[in-house]
Amino acid sequence: MATDSIDTETVQHKTFVRSVEWLCKVDSTNSYAIRTIAESEQFPLLVGANVQTNGRGRGGNQWWGSAGSLAFSLVLIPSDSGINQQQWPLMSLAVGLSIGEGLAPYVGNSPIQLKWPNDVFADGKKVAGILIETIPTNPELVVIGIGINVNNSFTDAPADIQGTASSVKDLTGETTSLEDILVSTLQSLEQTLKRLGIADTEFLDDWRQRCFLTGRQIGVDDSQRQTFGTCLGIDDDGALRLMTASGLQRFFAGTVTSIEE
Ligand code: BTN
Repeated sequence: MATDSIDTETVQHKTFVRSVEWLCKVDSTNSYAIRTIAESEQFPLLVGANVQTNGRGRGGNQWWGSAGSLAFSLVLIPSDSGINQQQWPLMSLAVGLSIGEGLAPYVGNSPIQLKWPNDVFADGKKVAGILIETIPTNPELVVIGIGINVNNSFTDAPADIQGTASSVKDLTGETTSLEDILVSTLQSLEQTLKRLGIADTEFLDDWRQRCFLTGRQIGVDDSQRQTFGTCLGIDDDGALRLMTASGLQRFFAGTVTSIEE
């Protein structure tokens, strides 16, 4: 099978996904899922696209997914996995861990690490991003948007981008089946969501082992101010721990804007 094509029946057969819509081209799989959700009744619903013309990232950023990258959104009902509203902040970490674990077998010896709250890094560069959104008219649903750099390459990108982003192809020199990576990440996601649903917070220890920030000097922007300090990892409630000049601070939301080696 061609490495860049997705057989939706296979994906449905091998994973917990109950319905699939795979599009040739769309503005954003998250936006499409949010717009059309009423038409679908079978969850989890997978919406994917070969090309996104207006992929969206966290904080209103654009997500540049060139040919060969994997872009999809999973719409699900967290309570189906036993996940309650209080656990939603942990769900963000659970999704990042799942993508990391799903990708790990495909990146050779490159260490997979996680940048709070849910960026996935390999060899110190971002290889996947996650945008989780809710739908005001269907508050029981979440839309988990995932972009993974697979067969696209950053070798011809400007130096500043080459220093921060990478892909499976750049890491291994090989082309990998998008379908294999999709199935692997969905299978991993099903398991991690189940662990969260039975309040098995041991998955947080797996997350901590892959934390990219622990021990580093970082800046966190919580949309009010930027705070600098040494990252002490995450708490059991998913908060990021930062030792600042004025003591320990905890963050439940925000963006890590600077990381010193
Ligand atoms: C980020 O790192 O800022 C998050 C990027 C999320 C990108 C994915 S690609 C599939 C889905 N559709 C979107 O428009 N965004 C997410």
